[in-house]
Amino acid sequence: DAFTVDFQDGVNTQVESGAKPDAEVEYTTDGGTPVAHPYEYQRIGSDGPLLLQDVHLTELFGAFDRERIPERVVHAKGAGAHGYFEVTNSEFVKQYSMMDVFSEDGLRTPITVRFSTVGGESGSADEARDPRGFAIKFRTRKGIWDLVMNNTPVFFIRDAAKFPHFIHTQKRNPQTHLKDKDMFWDYLGSNPESLYQVMRLFSDLGTPQGFTHMNGWSGHSYRWIKEDGTWVYVKLYAETMQGVANFTNAEATTIQGENPDYATQDLYERIENGTFPGWTMYAQVLTPSDAEKFKYNVLDLTKDWGFDDVPKTEIGKFYLTQNPSNYFAEIEQAAFSPARMVDGWGPSADPVLQARLFSYSDTHRYRLGVNYMQIPVNCPFAPVANFERDGAMNVLGNQGSRPNYLSTLDPIKLAKRPYVDDLHQQWTGGAVSSLAEVTDIDFDWPRRFWASLSETDQQNLISNIVGHLGGAKSESVRRRQTALFALVDPAFGQAVADGVGVSVDALEFPGVEVPTWANTTRDAKGSTVG
Ligand code: HEM
Repeated sequence: DAFTVDFQDGVNTQVESGAKPDAEVEYTTDGGTPVAHPYEYQRIGSDGPLLLQDVHLTELFGAFDRERIPERVVHAKGAGAHGYFEVTNSEFVKQYSMMDVFSEDGLRTPITVRFSTVGGESGSADEARDPRGFAIKFRTRKGIWDLVMNNTPVFFIRDAAKFPHFIHTQKRNPQTHLKDKDMFWDYLGSNPESLYQVMRLFSDLGTPQGFTHMNGWSGHSYRWIKEDGTWVYVKLYAETMQGVANFTNAEATTIQGENPDYATQDLYERIENGTFPGWTMYAQVLTPSDAEKFKYNVLDLTKDWGFDDVPKTEIGKFYLTQNPSNYFAEIEQAAFSPARMVDGWGPSADPVLQARLFSYSDTHRYRLGVNYMQIPVNCPFAPVANFERDGAMNVLGNQGSRPNYLSTLDPIKLAKRPYVDDLHQQWTGGAVSSLAEVTDIDFDWPRRFWASLSETDQQNLISNIVGHLGGAKSESVRRRQTALFALVDPAFGQAVADGVGVSVDALEFPGVEVPTWANTTRDAKGSTVG
């Protein structure tokens, strides 16, 4: 008789047994063979050496010894949950983009969200002063779309090559293995384009009350693209329905000691109690010609668009309704990447975004293995057909018997190209000029932010800075950073100067000189100089 083996049966059995209560499943080896007791081991006599033939015991240690995978190089500590995104304003989006996920009001798309701190290791405290990651994976009908946001509209850098330098200074000193305030502020003071993000970080926004009382921003300009290839710049923004709420430095410090997992626990319990956290999603749009005239470079990640400058329009809402049933499988193994894009969504020429398009998939291959997209939490709901084959842990049938090359005998169906993407973006002059040089316009947002703070928030910002910067041993590091605050507002600078024991008149500005061959300056035709 013809007999066929269905490998999927085994997978289904394992998945189903994982969902059963203990009492209904029998204890076995990895091969499914029953074993009498988990503590059982074989030895000679009652106290002699153990036996190599005891494969139950060696398998136990073989698996245990390999439990840890590399933690994320940044954003290592986090928590996440699943839920859905629902479109509320498809008409608005359709004017600018063909993204299927926004195509009809009421359309619900399953999502997974992971929140995180940035600088700490996987066991670090949730209430550390740090930006928060806010990553959303949309399982759209047309493939995976990841929106990998932070809880801040801007970032410390606008030059991709600075990222590893910046991150190294926020992590540990290579010798002492301690967090190092001199390194921390040496980098920031010598790269003054970081100033607005630094001020947000040292305000109480740097210690949000868990993960649900904060907003999310795409940060970069992305592009929305229509079927005819025309496009606009777009930024997305998620506003918390729980209201923005932050801890003071003193409160955050206490909580870090009492419950380092405060935000993780808070998120889990809210969902477990059925009070599902939600956010409203907004879009800001600038046409390419508006972008050229815009007062800031739209490819500069250190500058916000501001809702006064570019109005926001609601496009949808999302809610987190389901805790993971297994944290490692569904959150630790989740791979979010700005490179996971769908038709109608494209990158801008923002250099930091361009670098991210490489970095995430690259780290996923390292952290999770080449076939990381086959891990259930990452696996698209849309079918996948291509010529990538084999590799470690290829567990979904390896695309079966389909040809592993572009075959004329058994041709693969090719999708109609949705549009010819007009990648031309106006890179010269005006709004999009060189990003390397720090000029007075870089103090615009820091000044707007300072002016927007209440007196209490200004005082908290000053004392939060003093508490940290005051710990830098190098006087020049303290002085240089203080001088930057003085350029934002003289009284602000003076207050910090008094707090950290320096005089503000000795201004050392700007910081590190960038050699021209490494500069991002472009000539009049838009090609890179040098
Ligand atoms: C995580 C690189 C800037 C948001 C990561 C990871 C890398 C990385 C390698 C670890 C990913 C993983 O192991 O799964 C970079 C580089 C940047 C950059 C090279 C700039 C050159 C940004 C910016 C944002 C951001 C500007 C937000 C607008 C995130 C988030 C995560 C993350 C939310 C955590 C994702 C998760 O929860 O799994 N980044 N990043 N990053 N990054 Fe970035």
